[in-house]
Amino acid sequence: MAQNRQKVALIGDGAVGSSYAFAMMQQGLAEDFVIVDVIKERTEGDALDLEDAQVFTAPKNIYSGDYKDCADADLAVITAGAPQKPGESRLDLVNKNLKIMQSIIKPLVASGFKGVLLVAANPVDILTYAAQKFSGFPKSRVFGSGTSLDTTRLQVALSKKLKVSPQSIDAYIMGEHGDSEFAAYSAARVGGESFLAAAKRAGLSTDDLTKIEDDVRKKAYEIINRKGATFYGVATALMRISKAVLHDENAILPVGAPVDGEYGLHDLYIGSPAVINGAGIDRVIEVPLNDDEKSKMQASAKTLKETLENGMA
Ligand code: LAC
Repeated sequence: MAQNRQKVALIGDGAVGSSYAFAMMQQGLAEDFVIVDVIKERTEGDALDLEDAQVFTAPKNIYSGDYKDCADADLAVITAGAPQKPGESRLDLVNKNLKIMQSIIKPLVASGFKGVLLVAANPVDILTYAAQKFSGFPKSRVFGSGTSLDTTRLQVALSKKLKVSPQSIDAYIMGEHGDSEFAAYSAARVGGESFLAAAKRAGLSTDDLTKIEDDVRKKAYEIINRKGATFYGVATALMRISKAVLHDENAILPVGAPVDGEYGLHDLYIGSPAVINGAGIDRVIEVPLNDDEKSKMQASAKTLKETLENGMA
């Protein structure tokens, strides 16, 4: 294979996986892109459809394959799993998606895959933990999409209130990618200024900020109730994270990160900013939280630990 070609293996070609593949095409990321799924016709059809896009994006070898094709991938992205139905929480999916994760990790490890593993199936913090345990890969090589999508939702909501671009808002949603997530407002900044000072000047009250946080927490349900699933937002977040890995960026991004000591937490994956590069997680960034945010992080961790104990028993 020609030097410095990069390869991504997508495992799971549902709405999220297919949207991720399209996003990667649009960005011209990875020269080789293999799509793996139990439904072969689906992956063959998607590969044939997506290859037509390369005329306007960048030359790409995109094909339907099997786990053996993951062996030389730089990055594997797992989106396979049952999606939330209206009224279902992400944690409700844990039992069925743990079984699917187990059925994926076994052949992936057997293929000899030595790249970075990015997990995006829900409940993502639990499934990322499981993927690391089942695979035995170093924790730095396995991480999840975590609160990356939730953070973009917060940036979008705040940008409308502050009339600055979402990219200009340095604010994170942290904790579980789920109902116990929270906004780390005290550490947020806009244009070098404390976000809270900018929010006050924009006339946003504490109640307004609480409502924005709540709307972000509920946004997936609002989308699922209307269109049945979410996929463009999470697919684009996965593309951004993939770019940080493939370009060895050392980018600080909110992901489902392995904490061992940070925030006083151990042996857990949870939403926190981390430095992402070609080897995966370089280090977790421990965001300075106020007392209220610290207790929310602890509560979120407790929810995840309890689900882990039940699900992985
Ligand atoms: C959402 C799914 C990806 O938050 O959990 O849209």
